[in-house]
Amino acid sequence: MKRVITAAIMVAFLYACGNQNGTPASASVAEEKKEASANPSYDPNRGEGKFKAVEVSGKLDAAMAENGNKVYSVKCSSCHKTTDEKLVGPGWKGVSARRTAPWIMNFITNTDEMITKDPKAQAMLEICLVRMPNQNLSDIDARNLYEFMRKNDGVK
Ligand code: HEC
Repeated sequence: MKRVITAAIMVAFLYACGNQNGTPASASVAEEKKEASANPSYDPNRGEGKFKAVEVSGKLDAAMAENGNKVYSVKCSSCHKTTDEKLVGPGWKGVSARRTAPWIMNFITNTDEMITKDPKAQAMLEICLVRMPNQNLSDIDARNLYEFMRKNDGVK
């Protein structure tokens, strides 16, 4: 009887180890290595995603900003204020100055990957304790939102 119990405990122990520590940990290390070699020079000013250089005029495009405002109201305002006050995520005041246009547009269209790779995104996650969900934005939505952020930061 005693032996049966010991064996059962050992099986449970092995199972727990194999499941929680063994397989997934080594798999994710392999995954990280693969990513690092596929992307040896991560550019923290651009972030990770499809946007490399974004054409931005010195003047505001009011129509684009207005469209951005509409998307903001529906998809972003539950977590972001336009002031510098944090809600669930950081307030947007000054965001167009503290981040580059490609960084913002990559972050909002490729959120998961950016939070995984980008040091600034990880630092925000440590403060906010919520992972921003992917918002399924089109490229145009992303550009219009960026224009709305510029307007919010006083570009005319
Ligand atoms: C469920 C809450 C939530 C929603 C909805 C949300 N965000 Fe976020 N956002 C966050 C959090 C939290 C962070 C900080 C990073 C993290 O913890 O994931 C963040 C960070 C950001 C940042 C970086 C801010 C900075 O100071 O660098 C931008 C830009 C941003 N979000 C844009 C958007 C846009 C655009 C939308 C709407 C299309 C949106 N977010 C919708 C929660 C949200």
